[in-house]
Amino acid sequence: MSQYLLSIEGRVVIVTGGGKGIGRVYCRELAKAGAKVVAADIDHDANEDTVAEIREAGGEAITATTDVADERQTAEMARTVAEAFGRIDGLVNNASLMSVLERRDWKLIPGDEWDRVMEVNLRGIFMCCKAVFPYMKEQGGGKIINISSGRFWNGAPNRLHYSTSKAGVIGLTRSLAREVGPENICVNAITPGFTLSDTQVASSGEYAQTNAPPEDRCIQRHQYPEDLVGAVMFLLSPGSDFVSGQTLNVDGGQQMH
Ligand SMILES: NC(=O)c1ccc[n+]([C@@H]2O[C@H](COP(=O)([O-])OP(=O)(O)OC[C@H]3O[C@@H](n4cnc5c(N)ncnc54)[C@H](O)[C@@H]3O)[C@@H](O)[C@H]2O)c1
Repeated sequence: MSQYLLSIEGRVVIVTGGGKGIGRVYCRELAKAGAKVVAADIDHDANEDTVAEIREAGGEAITATTDVADERQTAEMARTVAEAFGRIDGLVNNASLMSVLERRDWKLIPGDEWDRVMEVNLRGIFMCCKAVFPYMKEQGGGKIINISSGRFWNGAPNRLHYSTSKAGVIGLTRSLAREVGPENICVNAITPGFTLSDTQVASSGEYAQTNAPPEDRCIQRHQYPEDLVGAVMFLLSPGSDFVSGQTLNVDGGQQMH
């Protein structure tokens, strides 16, 4: 382990949904900080792009294309990472159905869309945690970071399935933190505010500029993916070894709890 309390140098970190949007920024920035990064998006080409960008900049990364909702694929993901790097120090559960979802009245959400959102956003996290657990246990500890949403605090309307899944992430985080604490595995959640990721901007149009106006925040500007990186790094670092079961809100001080 590095001498520096907040260092993640040499740590092997899987980022689900690491091919696009905020996940890609996590991959890039974690690699810059010396982590060995695994881009585990469902989109293989996007994973390849993320890894190429990291390698060009001199960092270390591999792809592990995975549908997080599929137990066979998540087990394969963990095996691939352990074979490549010999360990799994961190799992950032960032993959989600979000920007692809239409914003609409709750009564208009089809049942099968509801089910798929739960499958990816909740079952996906459960499956990824199950897959990495044996490796983290064997090596004496690890860090799991679950990406929830500021919708948990403010109950934003029009994506009821998404909001519900992100509230479930908090429950999962808390109970799992107790169950795996004896193995020295920390499990925490982050609730990002409305963030202008490339995918969010592309799918939201005008809404992206008018939602979450800067004046609602203590730090009065829009939120970008880079604003979330420091919180993820802290929760991956030895500096957070005694922090577990918590939810860290990162939104420039819009919501307070
Ligand atoms: N952008 C925001 O405003 C915002 C706010 C709060 C929380 N979040 C959360 O932050 C995370 C990243 O947000 P984003 O803006 O980049 O979202 P996004 O929707 O653009 O990206 C999600 C990523 O997950 C991948 N993915 C989808 N289904 C998958 C599956 N079954 N298996 C593996 N990968 C899959 C997608 O290919 C994509 O790369 C998400 O968990 C999102 O819910 C985002």
